Amino acid sequence: MNLLSIQGVSRTFGGHKGTQTQALLPVDLEVRENDFVTILGPSGCGKSTMLRIVAGLDFPTTGQVLLDGQAIDGPGADRGMVFQSYTLFPWLTVAQNIRFGLREKGVSETAQKERSDYFIAKVGLRGFENHFPKQLSGGMQQRTAIARALANDPRILLMDEPFGALDNQTRVVMQELLLGIWEAERKTVMFVTHDIDEAIFMANRVAVFSARPGRIKADIPVNLPHPRHYTVKTSPEFMELKARLTEEIRAEALAAAAH
Ligand SMILES: Nc1ncnc2c1ncn2[C@@H]1O[C@H](COP(=O)(O)OP(=O)(O)OP(=O)(O)O)[C@@H](O)[C@H]1O
Ligand SMILES: [Mg+2]
Repeated sequence: MNLLSIQGVSRTFGGHKGTQTQALLPVDLEVRENDFVTILGPSGCGKSTMLRIVAGLDFPTTGQVLLDGQAIDGPGADRGMVFQSYTLFPWLTVAQNIRFGLREKGVSETAQKERSDYFIAKVGLRGFENHFPKQLSGGMQQRTAIARALANDPRILLMDEPFGALDNQTRVVMQELLLGIWEAERKTVMFVTHDIDEAIFMANRVAVFSARPGRIKADIPVNLPHPRHYTVKTSPEFMELKARLTEEIRAEALAAAAH
């Protein structure tokens, strides 16, 4: 059984005066345990909508999503979300943010501390445990958000352009950090990005969305070996995938612009 099964999920939004926007055509996608699926597609094609439906923050117009065979009917601790904009609680420190979900679950103080210390070290935030989000840089806030999602040990991590607001250097560091964690902890990840290099570097599969209304037009395996180092980005295999994806995305971006 696949970990996550997206079955015929479509979404139509109602607007002013009865206008309707079809954000997603029926989408089918199977995510296996330990998959790192990246999702590429033009702006407005429904990527965030699909991730929000998997998160249980929005509901499909048709179809259903199963996690471990159970239909999703709302948010749950089995799914960890990381969004592009920083979503930390501003009134809680780094450590308190990371422990928040564990406390909600009734995890003991000692175990909370152990887990938050572990992930604070993993994301390189030792020494900043007692800082508040506004005292951190954007990259540090995003590392806190990732640590918070990981500390809850979700079945699947849902990441919507988590590095989109970061400068290029920080972004590369974060990519390697997350990939290292994925390699070590065998997590399952769905990761939306606009960046083709990022989509290839992180993934074992890239799902390409068409222009709105979105559907998956290609599901491309990435068989680059692990552990991956950023130098893989100049390998012939990488370049070949990049050329193919650039072509796929270009066609969709043109279609989106022609709407
Ligand atoms: N709550 C909503 N109400 C009405 N329309 C919505 C709502 N959320 C999204 N849409 C519409 O659905 C379509 C898909 O939006 P979505 O945010 O999923 O796109 P996206 O692929 O994530 O785009 P981007 O790459 O720019 O983030 C858009 O046309 C958007 O206007
Ligand atoms: Mg989006």
